[in-house]
Amino acid sequence: MVKINTNYDKLAAGYLFPEIAKRTKAFLEANPNAEVMKLGIGNTTEPLTKSTLDGLSKGVEKLSTVEEYSGYGDEQGNTALREAIAKKYSNYKVALDSNEVFVSDGAKPDSANIQSIFSKDNIIAVQDPAYPVYVDTNVIAGRTGESKDGQYEGLVYMSCTEENCFFPSPPKEKVDLIYLCSPNNPTGAVATKEQLKAFVDYARENKAIIIFDSAYSEFITDESLPRSIYEIEGAKECAIEINSFSKSAGFTGVRLGWTIVPKALVTEDSDAGKINALWNRRQTTFFNGASNIVQEGGLAVLSEQGQAENKEVINYYMDNAKIIKEGLEAIGVKCFGGVNAPYIWMKTPNNLSSWDFFDKLLNECHVVGTPGSGFGPAGEGYFRLSAFGHRENILKAVEEIKSKLKVEQ
Ligand code: MLT
Repeated sequence: MVKINTNYDKLAAGYLFPEIAKRTKAFLEANPNAEVMKLGIGNTTEPLTKSTLDGLSKGVEKLSTVEEYSGYGDEQGNTALREAIAKKYSNYKVALDSNEVFVSDGAKPDSANIQSIFSKDNIIAVQDPAYPVYVDTNVIAGRTGESKDGQYEGLVYMSCTEENCFFPSPPKEKVDLIYLCSPNNPTGAVATKEQLKAFVDYARENKAIIIFDSAYSEFITDESLPRSIYEIEGAKECAIEINSFSKSAGFTGVRLGWTIVPKALVTEDSDAGKINALWNRRQTTFFNGASNIVQEGGLAVLSEQGQAENKEVINYYMDNAKIIKEGLEAIGVKCFGGVNAPYIWMKTPNNLSSWDFFDKLLNECHVVGTPGSGFGPAGEGYFRLSAFGHRENILKAVEEIKSKLKVEQ
């Protein structure tokens, strides 16, 4: 008899973003004339830049001639792109070997799959709130018990609260795999070098591994903040870093990302080189490489011209973030993030629960956001607004909120 993976039954809720889409659709069906402003999922809206389009076109062109046609490529990514990604890290004074770079179809699949090369017995620590993929994939893999009071048994939750400026200290107990995201989704908080050093020191002492999601690193405006965990001495011994072209180059639909697995990584039961070899084995078995067309686009993004063009798009989204934050603060809403990250993390007005506020904002202002509780129990009472959107939609959303939302002072 076929048996299903019953760990799926432990998942306390459906995946967050389809749930929001479902509720938005129901609202639109009931209110067909309403114009809804979507500031929920962090989905890019601005067109690709000229350099990027030229790169993608070059990728297509290459497929049109016998000389340049390519079929399957290396599962790890094309050499030129791996080298360009490694070179990008030299901007942060980090030296990487291109064999430590694994190109993929995005940071979400890599964040989901990376746990599969580690034992089921590992103890997992996550920031709370966190991007739901980290928790859900470990639940599915069987590393947790049931969900009780919003927390899965067996997971270590590192609370991110106003008191710790939404970035935690390392756990008191011994854990094995630690997920960190900076700039953070959803809170928009960014770890300082000192805060990351505390985690790197903890990981080296405890032979733990940090899975560092830096998908929003290009949105950092404060030069003193680290864009890569490898800016911290010793991090190559204890950290895997995942990044993406999605948000920084508009590839949410195009799909391209990468994961750095340093050769120097060690665990209690493995020597340097083993984790890199395991991820290589995993990718060569489960993945046939990112699209060759898209990888040409990625190379173009990383060119000097490509970086300059994409910086303008990033600045556009960050101007949106400023508009949202200032608009909310003008009516007395307490806001965090939105300065070095494209997310505004707001306290729900009048002590509403995150989902009650979702309904209120949708019904009264026709604005869709993301309930903080969807990212973990510590997100209850908070709400996330995304700065990805056309300017006119952002302005309209802010005007609607300012004129219709009543905040008790
Ligand atoms: C988000 O809105 O949190 C992200 O855009 C979702 C994702 O990147 O998968």
